[in-house]
Amino acid sequence: MSKEKTKNFLRVGFTYNIKKEVEQEAVQSTIEENNREKFIDTNLAENYSNRLSDVYAEWDDEETISAVEAAIKKAGHEVIRIEADENAFEKLRLNRPDIVFNMAEGFGGASRESHIPAMLEMLNIPYTASDPITIGNCHDKSRCKEILTYHGVPNPGFFTTDTIVNGQPKVKFPAFVKPLHEGSSKGIYNSCVVNDKKELNREITRIKQDYDQYSIIEDFLDGREFTVALLGNGDKVQVLPIVEINLDGLPADFPKIYSYEVKWFFDTRENKLDIFTCPADISDKLKGKIETICKNAYRALRIKDWARMDVRCDSKDEPYIIEINPLPGILPNPDDNSCFPKAAREVGMDYDALIQTVLNGAIERYGLNAK
Ligand SMILES: Nc1ncnc2c1ncn2[C@@H]1O[C@H](COP(=O)(O)OP(=O)(O)OP(=O)(O)O)[C@@H](O)[C@H]1O
Ligand SMILES: [Mg+2]
Repeated sequence: MSKEKTKNFLRVGFTYNIKKEVEQEAVQSTIEENNREKFIDTNLAENYSNRLSDVYAEWDDEETISAVEAAIKKAGHEVIRIEADENAFEKLRLNRPDIVFNMAEGFGGASRESHIPAMLEMLNIPYTASDPITIGNCHDKSRCKEILTYHGVPNPGFFTTDTIVNGQPKVKFPAFVKPLHEGSSKGIYNSCVVNDKKELNREITRIKQDYDQYSIIEDFLDGREFTVALLGNGDKVQVLPIVEINLDGLPADFPKIYSYEVKWFFDTRENKLDIFTCPADISDKLKGKIETICKNAYRALRIKDWARMDVRCDSKDEPYIIEINPLPGILPNPDDNSCFPKAAREVGMDYDALIQTVLNGAIERYGLNAK
């Protein structure tokens, strides 16, 4: 299908960051050493940094990278792999692909996800997904919320700081504390839900120490949680079936959040967490509200080709945008709980079709199929 759509086959550069083997082994041995019960009893926020660095948590593994590469090849294109390391610019400059499929999360600094798109912009090479401004704005959770607020898209009240709070905090308790510019739930542990100023300052101090960055402190939304995959551009933006993350399925003494320990330790291929429902069992009214705020957020941030948005309701079932991922995670194996591919499968779009749809969206945006 995609072969017919793209009249000519292209030289597609493919930019990514690959998890280092040593890190994968560390994750594996940590999972083996620590059974699920042990995690329930452990204060991970305190112990975690001694056990395992989460520095590569956002990066992809070979299985995902090969699956994306295969999907692009199946559409008839040539694929040029370009690891998003310090040599990436030179490789892009010399190879000059017709277009780049970008899924590089980057390394180092708050703008790390923008590095590759910025290089591509400078080299005038077309690429999939959002531009460096949008990606940078989404990766800074407060900048993202400022834009959403300007455009009237609901999101939880917040303030940011990198020093402890002495006066009256600008949010009510319970509040939620998280690093300002991390993803993949890095730095998000059970301890992030804080009930008083002492706990708040403990978390601000931890985030400053472990991540050398500001904290964003938000009103804690205690309602249902969803994640929403969107595809396309302009009038053709498609909201895929909404995934609910059923936080009630977590251990009873866990706070209701989709934390690092839940994402990376509880939910493994061997021990799959049964907390995802797609399509979410929600009223048409709530579905309509969620779709509307997500589409408005997509437009407000000027997202291109695809993004996944996390949404949470307050106690009155009103949905708010929690955060936006313009480079969504896409694990290919259905045994892994990866929400974008899961939502795509629900409309009959398999992994190859999903990757090809994203690529074709960018090809169309740049008018490459008309050449
Ligand atoms: N204001 C909030 N109120 C309630 N829960 C929240 C709030 N902010 C975050 N959470 C919880 O923490 C989880 C992780 O937060 P968030 O999505 O901001 O982190 P992330 O690391 O960017 O996630 P991802 O892995 O999707 O990139 C959310 O899925 C949600 O369960
Ligand atoms: Mg999230």
